[in-house]
Amino acid sequence: MQALYRIALLAGDGIGPEVIAEAVKVLKTIESVNGVSFRFQAGLIGGSAIDATASPLPAETVAICNNAQAILLGAVGGPKWDSNRPETRPEQGLLQIRKRLGLYVNLRPVKVLDSLAGYSAIKPAYVKGTDLVIVRELLGGIYFGNPRGIFAKNGERMGVNTEIYREHEVERVAHRAFQLARMRRRKVTSVDKANVLETSRLWRDVVTRIGRNYPDVELNHLYVDNCAMQLIDCPTGFDVILTSNMFGDILSDEAAMVAGSIGFLPSASLGEHAALYEPIHGSAPDIAGRNKANPMAAILSAAMMLRYSFRLETAARAVETAVEKVLKRGAHTSEVARSGRALSTSRMGDLIAAETGKILKSGSPRKRK
Ligand code: IPM
Ligand code: MG
Repeated sequence: MQALYRIALLAGDGIGPEVIAEAVKVLKTIESVNGVSFRFQAGLIGGSAIDATASPLPAETVAICNNAQAILLGAVGGPKWDSNRPETRPEQGLLQIRKRLGLYVNLRPVKVLDSLAGYSAIKPAYVKGTDLVIVRELLGGIYFGNPRGIFAKNGERMGVNTEIYREHEVERVAHRAFQLARMRRRKVTSVDKANVLETSRLWRDVVTRIGRNYPDVELNHLYVDNCAMQLIDCPTGFDVILTSNMFGDILSDEAAMVAGSIGFLPSASLGEHAALYEPIHGSAPDIAGRNKANPMAAILSAAMMLRYSFRLETAARAVETAVEKVLKRGAHTSEVARSGRALSTSRMGDLIAAETGKILKSGSPRKRK
């Protein structure tokens, strides 16, 4: 009997629909050669959902997500909705779905392929060999704490946000980081601002305590400002970076520039019962609808879905190897291409899909089970 996997597709705004279409193309290729079946169900999220239903996360979308084994998301946001009230901004759709599904850990792998080292904003010698994962807490911290708002006080407006971390929120994400490190190079760097913030002092305390359960994993702590510097100075020195919601958001964009382009980087947001996969990049309204965006981050997010949600390791490796091969051949989309011979989004998707099919037909590339 063919295995059937149910996937919710939330393409979202801007380049979201274009890059998700390419990820689906690759998944359909896998279907055709691998004896698995994917059932896709599309839902609205973000600005496009606001336009159609006045809500950034309609109830129907939540139902589609609850009915799926995994969610593949494109991107949300755009200038059209920038002046909306906070509750009806596209970003709320993403923040709410994370919350509703309990997706408390966000994995953001950053790997610099040798063939891409020359494209980094940093000298190739510094970035070559970089292979790290940012483990970002996704449901707490200043993103969700109350009180929040813009209030009037003493004749002027005052903006308020609150950073809160409870012990259990730090514990569960710390366990994930240590467990991940065990499957890698056994090194966790916990990043905080414990010289200034109480939430960070608690964070450091809890991570240290959880770390005692993993004596085979080396743990060290860095202040976030120092980490930002080290990421540029010596990115190869990191294995697993464990950090809070806000610091993880910032450090992952920085790490993306180490990798050469934010267009390459996928992510997985995981909870106990649900999983959402999405590129790290945003909706890039400036190039939306022009068949120019790099679909690699969306395609690699689909590979993470194959690995973590469906346990289809061979298919996941095939997609990752296909991306590496295509890049090695010098095929690039416009944000990377230097010669002016940039590939379109759909052409890049065609190449990766074809290569994935070829790899799967010829037997698994490198078995890593
Ligand atoms: C990200 C994004 C989101 C975040 C925005 C769009 C809400 O920047 O996933 O990194 O801040 O988490
Ligand atoms: Mg971000």
